[in-house]
Parts: sequence; C-alpha cells; structure tokens
Amino acid sequence: MRRFILFQFSSVWVFIFLIATSAFGQEADLIRKAGNFFKPLPEKLSAPENNPTTPEKVLLGQMLFFEPRLSKSGAISCNSCHNLITGGVDNLPTSPGHMGQLGEETPRRS
Ligand code: HEC
Repeated sequence: MRRFILFQFSSVWVFIFLIATSAFGQEADLIRKAGNFFKPLPEKLSAPENNPTTPEKVLLGQMLFFEPRLSKSGAISCNSCHNLITGGVDNLPTSPGHMGQLGEETPRRS
C-alpha cells in the first residue's frame, strides 16, 4: 500500500513537471515569434528634414494627447484608450468610445 501511495505521489509530480515544461516551452516560442515583429523603440524618432522636431511641437503633441475637448462628448482623450500608465493599451477586446459604446470584435488572426 505504501509503495502504491509513493507511486501515485511521484506520478503527480511527473504530471505537474510535464505541464509546467510544456507551458514554458510555449511561452518561449511565443516570445521568439513576437521578437520577429516587435523591436525596442528608438531613443530618438526620425523627423522629415522640412518638419524638424522641436520642444514646442513635442509639448503640443503631449497636450493634444491628453485633450478631451477633441472628442464629441468632451470626455475622451487619446489617453482614455491609450492610457500611458498601462503602456498605451487598455487590454480590452474593443475600447469604449462615445457614450461608452463598444464596437464589434473582429476575429483575431492566429
Ligand atoms: C475610443 C478608444 C480610442 C481612442 C479615444 C483613441 N484610440 Fe487610437 N486606437 C484605438 C484602438 C482600439 C486601436 C487599434 C485598432 C486596431 O488594431 O484595429 C487604436 C490604434 C491606434 C494607433 C495605431 C497603433 C498601431 O499599432 O498601428 C495609433 C497611432 C493611435 N491609435 C493613436 C491615437 C491617437 C493619437 C488618439 C487621439 C487623437 C487615439 N488613438 C484615440 C482606440 C482608441
């Protein structure tokens, strides 16, 4: 009986080990695939020669990004959906827009 319990106990660990290693393998594969699409942002973005970046333009862009008066309701700014605190994404399938309306979900490409 004791041997049987030991056998069951060790097979549970083997099962957990297999699940865990397969999950790590999938995660590593996903990170490798994502690395083909995403690269770190450059320190400085390039600007056209006839439209150079200036501190004033950067400040204007920042002000507009947080400006809710750009929306019909006067309540939504870019930051409502692209919240910089959460990396510029809201992690929702569709973002709530004017009056909290939600768009239709589009099927994800795999
Ligand atoms: C109501 C929510 C909402 C607001 C407000 C909003 N966005 Fe977006 N934005 C989205 C969503 C959702 C997407 C992704 C669309 C898609 O992938 O089909 C997106 C995509 C983008 C993209 C493309 C990102 C990419 O990877 O291609 C840019 C750039 C962008 N938004 C900038 C802005 C700016 C600038 C403002 C303000 C003037 C703004 N957005 C306001 C929801 C919003």
